[in-house]
Amino acid sequence: TIRAFIFDLDGVLTDTAEYHFLAWKALADQLGVDFDKTDNEQLKGVDRMGSLQFILQKGGLRLPEKQILALAEQKNHHYQQLIAGMSEADLFEGVTELFNALKDRNIAIGLASASKNAAMVLERLGITDAFDYVADASKVKQGKPHPEIFLTVADALNIPPAQCVGVEDSLAGLQAIVDARMYSVGIGDARVLHQADVVYAHIGELEPGKVLGNAADKGR
Ligand code: G6P
Ligand code: MG
Repeated sequence: TIRAFIFDLDGVLTDTAEYHFLAWKALADQLGVDFDKTDNEQLKGVDRMGSLQFILQKGGLRLPEKQILALAEQKNHHYQQLIAGMSEADLFEGVTELFNALKDRNIAIGLASASKNAAMVLERLGITDAFDYVADASKVKQGKPHPEIFLTVADALNIPPAQCVGVEDSLAGLQAIVDARMYSVGIGDARVLHQADVVYAHIGELEPGKVLGNAADKGR
């Protein structure tokens, strides 16, 4: 039986995936590196330095460590400006209802976000208290696609991974869920997220009853 849902944040509960993209795109433009939405799919769920390394590598750029750190700082500053105006209205439609439905069924709710800005985004969305456990970048050594962050949440909730559902919009995050041996729900384009057990275009379409039924059919 499924006893926990563990959610990614950016792109799953709110549209911050778009803000990350805009901030990386601006930096790539400044560096003269070609960077589009297809490239960005590789970056979703990937931590800040890993994302920057991807862009530098794509442009064949080798820069001194000090300059790399300054670029990461610049991207983060831009990102923080983009999220500064966020409020409860930016929570994706259906999330509150979904959380309530899970609570009614006594299912734990966890967060697994690679972002160092996760706590701030949760505050702005007004959902900090909705979670039984929150893991962000500060809680883990290995970023997605490594399963550590999802396993950390399951462990903190004291629920075996096999009884957890992971919800992700990113390729790296889905890989982490699959390697954690959790039931996987993709949010986005089914052609991109083909690894997932089930994919919804939008979180608002996720019906917990259906997911639990499908998971049960697969022996969960
Ligand atoms: C999430 C996003 C990534 C972002 C990463 C680090 O995983 O999907 O796009 O790069 O967090 O975010 P941060 O806020 O720490 O730079
Ligand atoms: Mg995401």
